[in-house]
Amino acid sequence: MKKRIAVLTGGGDAPGLNAVIRAIVKTAIREYGYEVVGFRNGFRGVVERDMVLLTENDVAGILPRGGTILGTSNRDSPFKFPVGKDKYEDKSKQCIETILEYAEALISIGGDGSLMLSHKLFEMGLPVIGCPKTIDNDLKIGIAQTFGFESAYSFAAEALDRLHTTAESHHRIMCMEVMGRYAGWIALYAGIAGGADVILIPEIPFTYKKIIEKIEERKKMGKKFSLIIVAEGAKPKGGKLVVQKMVSASIDPVRLGGIGNVVASELEKMTGMETRATVLGHLQRGGSPTPYDRILSTMYGTAAMDLAAKKQYGYVVSLDSNCKIKPIPLAEAASGIRTVDVTGELVKTARKIGISFGD
Ligand code: F6P
Repeated sequence: MKKRIAVLTGGGDAPGLNAVIRAIVKTAIREYGYEVVGFRNGFRGVVERDMVLLTENDVAGILPRGGTILGTSNRDSPFKFPVGKDKYEDKSKQCIETILEYAEALISIGGDGSLMLSHKLFEMGLPVIGCPKTIDNDLKIGIAQTFGFESAYSFAAEALDRLHTTAESHHRIMCMEVMGRYAGWIALYAGIAGGADVILIPEIPFTYKKIIEKIEERKKMGKKFSLIIVAEGAKPKGGKLVVQKMVSASIDPVRLGGIGNVVASELEKMTGMETRATVLGHLQRGGSPTPYDRILSTMYGTAAMDLAAKKQYGYVVSLDSNCKIKPIPLAEAASGIRTVDVTGELVKTARKIGISFGD
């Protein structure tokens, strides 16, 4: 069989997916004489044998484009594949057979859910290499960032800048809810970059009393407005996560969302100040990747193909502190999520300049 590698994008999309696909295809063809077959819509494409041979022409011009030319899915697990209303079948063996029929290994570009599935398939005998994607930045890949994260928090920081001016004009409290699931990375980075007064993250449960103390402190300084960034997974001390809906066919069925509105309406009641909530939602996932995310995606894509050519399977590509590629075992990367270190440098920095975490 001709040397051929398979690739798929799984889970929620993130800016930079196309840049990774482009890097894999170019490196495969130019460096190693490989062909690349792309399965469409994550593992669904494997089950349905929906695939395309990717040439350099197919990936021309996609570097700055958001989304993924292959399509994706965050609900079609090969181990619990939907085959009718509330009916599922285990298609994992079939998936492995199909991938190996067309390629010698799979490069799985995904977040924690897709990497966990890929790891299970690896343990069943599928040669796999992982490529770390997610706007949430919550993968256990050492100190490296996932691609898509910088694009998401840059957008959120810009949104905070925009809220700043209108908040100041109207003397309002503005609560902006961002994504990130159970990790506060987007809120933390965007909050610092966008000059938030309060940052609420899942790792630090908050109290309204402490948030209001910050708002009052600002009022005493003549600042009659405040900016609060709320991670969707933030919750009050002793309180519960706010869940928007459940998606039963998904690997993680919980869809968070709504805490921004809850915080805004509580603060309005408690302070008497006019308060508004803004939910950034999927705007954070769309659009063009930042230049850094394009570079990171290109590095990850070429590194994944390097591993594939060396047949070094069972790893996720990552970077070390010197910006050198450092493969991390899939088992480690898929063993849970990386959350914000509450005693880490960034949280300390934020506290030193007076940002409140509501604690
Ligand atoms: O994991 C990426 C992410 O955007 C999370 O931040 C968010 O909670 C979730 O996906 C939203 O999922 P969906 O696209 O299914 O609404």
